[in-house]
Amino acid sequence: MKKINIAIDGPSAAGKSTIAKRLGAKLGYVHLDTGAMYRCTALKCVREGISLSDEQAVCDMLKQTKIELTPEGGVFMDGEDVSTAIRTDEISLAASKVSAHKNVRSDLVARQQEMAKAKGFIMDGRDIGTVVLKDAEVKIFMTASARARAERRYKQNIEKGIPTSDVETIAEEIRQRDYDDTHRANSPLRKADDAVEIDTSDMSIEEVVERIYQLAEPFLLKEE
Ligand code: DC
Repeated sequence: MKKINIAIDGPSAAGKSTIAKRLGAKLGYVHLDTGAMYRCTALKCVREGISLSDEQAVCDMLKQTKIELTPEGGVFMDGEDVSTAIRTDEISLAASKVSAHKNVRSDLVARQQEMAKAKGFIMDGRDIGTVVLKDAEVKIFMTASARARAERRYKQNIEKGIPTSDVETIAEEIRQRDYDDTHRANSPLRKADDAVEIDTSDMSIEEVVERIYQLAEPFLLKEE
């Protein structure tokens, strides 16, 4: 079967990673979570005391940093498994700050483009369809209401035993992050003109995976 690339963009907590993982397993494709790369950058800044607003210092540090995303979903920074360390609230906030820098983005975008060259990737992020993989065969813009996303995040926190705020507070934080992501100067979150928008508020994970699979299928059946 022909291999293609699938781009999934959308706001935080819309379910991109969960869907990308499931779809990857179904298609035998590798899921690349580009947010994890911004999170690694932020983690190293925090650990090394580099100011998040000092673009040059962040970029210099990044040049000396190896980030590996394994097909199994592991995230390694300079050989250390940081899969859990990058998921704290502090690092989410810091990642959002470093991701606003133009030169940080161009460094990570170049790495992402290099990784996806071989095709057979499902890449999720904010600028995949608009910048990183402009030529992806399938582009998805995944949304869900702030309330639906907050409820999912709340449930997830409870299940994982993570201390959690109430649903309304989480919804408010999500609205704030949406605003920041869509209003930043460099590569703001926006739907690519040729992306298909899927509102997952009232859809199950299986329904979303099936919908994207249906969009991908005609490309998979094409001759190379
Ligand atoms: O998807 P996430 O929450 O793990 O992303 C962490 C941060 O990185 C978030 O603030 C958005 C930013 N990001 C980005 O600007 N571009 C991407 N392709 C992926 C994430």
